[in-house]
Amino acid sequence: MVPQWIIEKKRDGRALADEEIGFFIQGYASGVIPDYQMAALAMAITLQGMSPDETVALTRNMLASGITLDTSSLRNPKIDKHSTGGIGDKVSLVLAPLVACCGIAVPMIAGRGLGLTGGTIDKLESIPGYRTHLDEAAFLHVLHTCGCSIIRAMDNLVPADNKLYALRDVTGTVPSIPLIVSSILSKKLAAQPDGLVLDVKWGHGAFMTTRSGAEALTRALVTTGRRLDLRMAALLTDMNQPLGRAVGNSLEVAESVDVLRGNGPADVVALTLELGVRMLMMGHVAADRKQALERLRAKLQSGEAFERLKTMVRLHGGDPRALDDPARLPSATIREPLPAHRAGFIQTVDAEAIGRAALLLGAGRARVTDKVDPTAGIAALKKIGEVVTVGETLAILHTNRRDRLEEARALSADAFRITVEHVSPPPLIALEI
Ligand code: URA
Repeated sequence: MVPQWIIEKKRDGRALADEEIGFFIQGYASGVIPDYQMAALAMAITLQGMSPDETVALTRNMLASGITLDTSSLRNPKIDKHSTGGIGDKVSLVLAPLVACCGIAVPMIAGRGLGLTGGTIDKLESIPGYRTHLDEAAFLHVLHTCGCSIIRAMDNLVPADNKLYALRDVTGTVPSIPLIVSSILSKKLAAQPDGLVLDVKWGHGAFMTTRSGAEALTRALVTTGRRLDLRMAALLTDMNQPLGRAVGNSLEVAESVDVLRGNGPADVVALTLELGVRMLMMGHVAADRKQALERLRAKLQSGEAFERLKTMVRLHGGDPRALDDPARLPSATIREPLPAHRAGFIQTVDAEAIGRAALLLGAGRARVTDKVDPTAGIAALKKIGEVVTVGETLAILHTNRRDRLEEARALSADAFRITVEHVSPPPLIALEI
């Protein structure tokens, strides 16, 4: 097989055979096929698309480029959750221990934040001592002991995706459904789950900004996952305003603790419960939605889910006292309130602008190699539909970068639109599959 013939075939809109995809991906992962040929194929795929058969073959071959973690010794049903990422999305920190208390095993391989969207790994690393890198034996030990473990991918796990994702980032080939689907599912499949519940975000603060684009991605993920023998369910959820009231790593850990103590913002609680219901039903540990909801609420209210998170943190080398007393989490030296300049109802809280402001304050990274400031971010955010008076705090900016404060303040102020007309909060769930 000759790489350029495969590129030409896709360029001309023809379907690639399984062997051609395998030849290309294995060749790229092993260094035989250079970046420039992979970039050309990625662009051809971006422009021409792929059939469901090709997407399945691409996902299988990406997975085969690395090791898989043998989680077959776990007795509980293994159900993972994946969010396509958004601003303030801390759901995994709450959901994993919560469903683990209900008899689900959650072997979760998570990512770091890149661009505007945050990453679960960065959030966990703001807990003093938490190790996100575990080897397979240690990962299994945590899973057997407490039912959930959240780690970052090892280098030899889907190495084709490590290389290809970095290449796509600089060649304009990120927004391609087959490339996104194979990238997400190959990493999830590497921990051998029985099922996967997806939270696909749409809106200003999401990677898919239009509802129709996000819907197409949702359907492609579900179809491909099912063909790879995964049980699949998906929610399409709103990311036009940030999720919850906190954006930024340690601020989001503190908000997750609030939720696990039976408080926290209504949208974070609602989304966690909706995803949890699907995970419990998929794992057949609840007969129906009503029973699943009752069990999840009981585990939140009793504090059992919070204790489970502390156990997971301790098993990962972290200090659970930082969760008992979030004042022990690292905090920023500067806290700057953002006042409302008019009274009325909050009409918009532009998630993209808040994400940009948080990144400027130090909470995110513009390049993969950048370091995040775990303390930086934006807290106490008002939500769409809430009423404010003149001078009332719309949000509090947290940072150690005085030089960035002015720009971040202007961006955050622009994120809020206030009107005298009554505004209802937008629906959180746009579609369910
Ligand atoms: N997340 C991934 O893991 N891969 C993509 O291609 C896009 C989002």
